[in-house]
Amino acid sequence: MEITMIGHGYVGLVTASIFADAGNKVNVIGRTPEKIQKLKSGDPLIFEPGLEEILDRNLKNGNLNFTLSYDSIKDSKIVFIGVGTPSQKDGSADLSQVRVVAKKIAENLGDNFTVISCKSTVPVGTNVEVDKIVKENASTGAKYAVASCPEFLREGTGVTDTLYPDRVIIGSESQKAIEVLLELHKPIGGERVITDLASAELIKYASNSILATKISFSNLIAEMSEVAGADAGIVLEAVGLDNRVSDKFLNVGIGYGGACFPKDVKALAFIGKSMKLDTGILDNVEKVNFRARHRFAKRVIDNAKGKKLAIWGLSFKPNTDDIREAPSIDIMNDLLKAGYELSVYDPQAMGHIEGIFGDKLTYADDKMQALDGAETLVVLTEWNEFEAADLEAVKKSLVNPIIIDGRNVYDPKQMKKLGFKYYSVGRRDVK
Ligand code: UGA
Repeated sequence: MEITMIGHGYVGLVTASIFADAGNKVNVIGRTPEKIQKLKSGDPLIFEPGLEEILDRNLKNGNLNFTLSYDSIKDSKIVFIGVGTPSQKDGSADLSQVRVVAKKIAENLGDNFTVISCKSTVPVGTNVEVDKIVKENASTGAKYAVASCPEFLREGTGVTDTLYPDRVIIGSESQKAIEVLLELHKPIGGERVITDLASAELIKYASNSILATKISFSNLIAEMSEVAGADAGIVLEAVGLDNRVSDKFLNVGIGYGGACFPKDVKALAFIGKSMKLDTGILDNVEKVNFRARHRFAKRVIDNAKGKKLAIWGLSFKPNTDDIREAPSIDIMNDLLKAGYELSVYDPQAMGHIEGIFGDKLTYADDKMQALDGAETLVVLTEWNEFEAADLEAVKKSLVNPIIIDGRNVYDPKQMKKLGFKYYSVGRRDVK
């Protein structure tokens, strides 16, 4: 079928590419001519493993079309809204882009029935608002229905997550819209949950918030483990063996970042507060997460030797170039304030970090170069190449073999054997 995706960020571009690969004709609308030109030439503009190949294949076979024009809407059975919904100062989601495109969709609807569906994460009630905007701006007699079909892909594994999700959520008051969305999702795995609009919208926030809660809960257990002399890794591994809990998202460290968890926990708390509900549980998830970053920066300041530190890992998680809300940013700001010189390396995120920090940092060409002249290595993202590093060589390169690890990448026993002073999170230090 022919569909349109408005927006080409991590969610828009990955889902559009997967639907194109399944044989649909997919139009992707953007608003920046240079970006559309690059996308047309096969440059995904983001680093997402496996995406470039799919993009290339579907540009060649004509299934993917990038455009600045809203013309394709009149022939599309489904129009997805995949634009940004950033946090505002009060924690609420900024829906201005959603409102602008809803009006544009209304003005471009054709004669056939069209499903209009938000892929962006939007607060409860947004799809009803989209419906209202479309009603006010479409020609009388336009045949359409709104549906919520939230996305659950993670950056770094977006392609496989989109192909094999745990579930596909479709919320709509229109049976016809549900059927069209079910047809589109036929080649995609996962359980189907068919529900109303508000429930579908809330499922997305609740899903991200419970995962963020697991992470902050784990980081609180890490704090307690440090005081008690316990090992948070072992504690949480044992907790996770209870399959009612599961072993996922219990990794301790410097907390969650990215474009989703920080924004969505805040937005859900805002929604709850606007309902006059006590959102203490969510407020504390955020508090512990913020504390994890600054606690770790202090741990570096308390234990590092020398004024020059090597930093490995800048992106908010491995396998992405995304640095939005990355813990590395707050941590490096704390370290710069404390007077350290930082020599940094990340396999994908260097350009983005340079855009923020400019000449305040030294940018290394590779991980070993970052160690030149440094006494202490600080690990902030668990990229495979750091896990697989030749630690003997690292030891030789560091003036003083100290590693301070924010992601518990290395085994303390091995570090002791190798002769490092090793500090991690929620475990006993090796001194
Ligand atoms: C998250 C959700 O996992 C996706 O299901 C959702 O679709 C997406 O948000 C979204 O709303 O678009 P993402 O932010 O890409 O995906 O990445 P995650 O793998 O969830 O990691 C988020 C953050 O949590 C990272 O900073 C990661 O380092 C941190 N994390 C994750 C931990 O600190 N501990 C863990 O155990 C797991």
